[in-house]
Amino acid sequence: MAYLTLAVLGLCTIGQAIEPPNIVLFVVDDLGIGDVGSFGNDSLRTPYIDSICKNGVKLEHDLASAALCTPSRAAMMTSRYAVRSGMSHVIMSLMVANGLPRSEWTLPQMLKQEGYATALIGKD
Ligand SMILES: *[C@@H]1O[C@H](CO)[C@@H](O)[C@H](O)[C@H]1NC(C)=O
Repeated sequence: MAYLTLAVLGLCTIGQAIEPPNIVLFVVDDLGIGDVGSFGNDSLRTPYIDSICKNGVKLEHDLASAALCTPSRAAMMTSRYAVRSGMSHVIMSLMVANGLPRSEWTLPQMLKQEGYATALIGKD
């Protein structure tokens, strides 16, 4: 009888649509972990970021693969060392024509396959 109950609960769970979580990824230059209210800063007000931390998932440990923005972002977008995509010594700007090789599989592409709408807002 216990097995039957579990199986029915399992089917109910499988039958329900599970909403994927929203994902907001901030990539910020020159922001220290102590500059955000939810990470302990009591003099700078960051209520919107604090709200996201309070109501979502607060990640407290992160490593950048490089100290420069372009290789760091390339690695984050591809999950590969920037040197493997040719981005390790590049500083991208609107003045530079090339970017990630089209053969690279990126995080937004993977999220789109899972039904996410993706956008990049801010710095190029
Ligand atoms: C809050 O951020 C400001 C600006 O970076 C910094 O000067 C201050 O020391 C920080 N306060 C704390 C408690 O970390």
